[in-house]
Amino acid sequence: MEFTVKSGNPEKQRTACLVLGVYESRRLTPAAEQFDTACGGYLGTLLRRGDLEGKVGQSLLLFNVPEALCERVLLVGCGREREVDSRRFRQIMHHAASALNETGAADAVIYLTDLAVKGRELNWKIRQLVEAFEESRYRSDALKSKKDAPRRLPRRIILSVPGRRELPDGEQAVREGVAIAAGVKLTKDLGNLPPNLCTPADLAEQAQALAQEFPALQVEVLEEAEMERLGMGALLAVTRGSAQPAKLIRLAYRQGPAAAKPYVLVGKGVTFDTGGISLKPGEGMDEMKYDMCGAASVLGTLRACAELKLPLNVVGLIPAVENMPGGRASRPGDIVTSLSGQTIEILNTDAEGRLILCDALTYAERDEPAAVIDIATLTGACIIALGRHPHGLFSNHPPLAHALQAAAHTAHDLVWELPLWDDYQEGLDSNFADMANVAGNRDGGAIMAACFLSRFAKKFHWAHLDIAGTAWKTGKAKGATGRPVPLLTQYLLDRAAEAEREDGRAAR
Ligand code: BES
Ligand code: MN
Ligand code: ZN
Repeated sequence: MEFTVKSGNPEKQRTACLVLGVYESRRLTPAAEQFDTACGGYLGTLLRRGDLEGKVGQSLLLFNVPEALCERVLLVGCGREREVDSRRFRQIMHHAASALNETGAADAVIYLTDLAVKGRELNWKIRQLVEAFEESRYRSDALKSKKDAPRRLPRRIILSVPGRRELPDGEQAVREGVAIAAGVKLTKDLGNLPPNLCTPADLAEQAQALAQEFPALQVEVLEEAEMERLGMGALLAVTRGSAQPAKLIRLAYRQGPAAAKPYVLVGKGVTFDTGGISLKPGEGMDEMKYDMCGAASVLGTLRACAELKLPLNVVGLIPAVENMPGGRASRPGDIVTSLSGQTIEILNTDAEGRLILCDALTYAERDEPAAVIDIATLTGACIIALGRHPHGLFSNHPPLAHALQAAAHTAHDLVWELPLWDDYQEGLDSNFADMANVAGNRDGGAIMAACFLSRFAKKFHWAHLDIAGTAWKTGKAKGATGRPVPLLTQYLLDRAAEAEREDGRAAR
């Protein structure tokens, strides 16, 4: 799908479909009002007759509107004008995109950017619109022998901006929306792959393919022998039961000043989590193919960065393993030495994410990072604590937590911070090693996992995103969400803007 922006009157648009908003009850948005005046009050008459109330989720498709140059008009319900907030705007865009996809129109001019959204500007509305329209056409049917009936979807979407002065801003918003949507799509595609087709080696190949596509990305893959030599005993303990060799994937994006410290993104890449010897119950175990969604979001975010040519240095680190039981698998009670030198008693082989992440975090020290953010489907307890709307956020550096909260708000990809107090740490005490990989009870499980990771993040500013509840949807709509690519990309966009401001100050 191709997106462009344009300013101009709705009645002058020669397009297959004009998309206009209608508030509840039966009130036209400003652009719809303007169109209606030009075509003699036709819309007003229809609304008075009761054909459309304007509730969210409603829409009405019109043909042969008198005096109009467009082939069709799609009226989209927007709910009560005063109630249009960020969440509601996203719902409206979602419904508008589905309704437009059903029309068969090859192109469309959309005037829904004229809705007033509390606290949001044009840039935000355009980005959300692009993301919603890309989302609406997402399918994961590559492995079905009979595809859903091929639909004729719009190819060209034109978004209206109020005037010519807003064109450059609108174009930038489209670029950002398109890049984020492409990153989200990559993340969904990888997450949805079956675990037999998305092994650690497959993830490494995906990273290599991405680096092929974007020359600004360099990739490096560490094999088990190399990890052994370095002393990554925690990561290697997890992969022992698997026939699939582990990979440590490192992607470097260097487009910032040579001296600028990189932002390091560490993504949990467990391509399937059986639990190992601490085997998981069978029900719903297929969903543990999504245990590499953190890794997928690192790839998606780097893709967005590269497409936006952000003037930053960013490193993606992906420990990729499969967690299987077997004759060679690690046992509960095993003690291993991590790359940091700290020893770990593995009391539960199902707490494997923290074992691979701790070695990746220590490995990140080499990059002298500006900040490290790890992204992991880490704990079922995070879903119990927060449900499936926000990512769990933890950090050892309040300004970093604030920056992520701000980016989450901007991208509307929400986070909620949980505490990382020292009071919790003693729960990880072990009689036999420096620490255990799980606490002795289930209290505060998401926090205990973060406490474990924090012991490997003492040398840099660090944040941890627990995406167990947000990386995929269960039930009938089962599928990866592509989150938190919008949040991470926004965080990096903000860092690029910040660097530019500081540059400006230095020059003055
Ligand atoms: N990948 C799981 C966490 C998970 C479970 C995410 C369900 C999403 C849905 C992780 O490796 C795990 O198994 N965590 C354990 C930790 C426990 C053993 C302390 C859990 O959450 O049960
Ligand atoms: Mn597990
Ligand atoms: Zn896991």
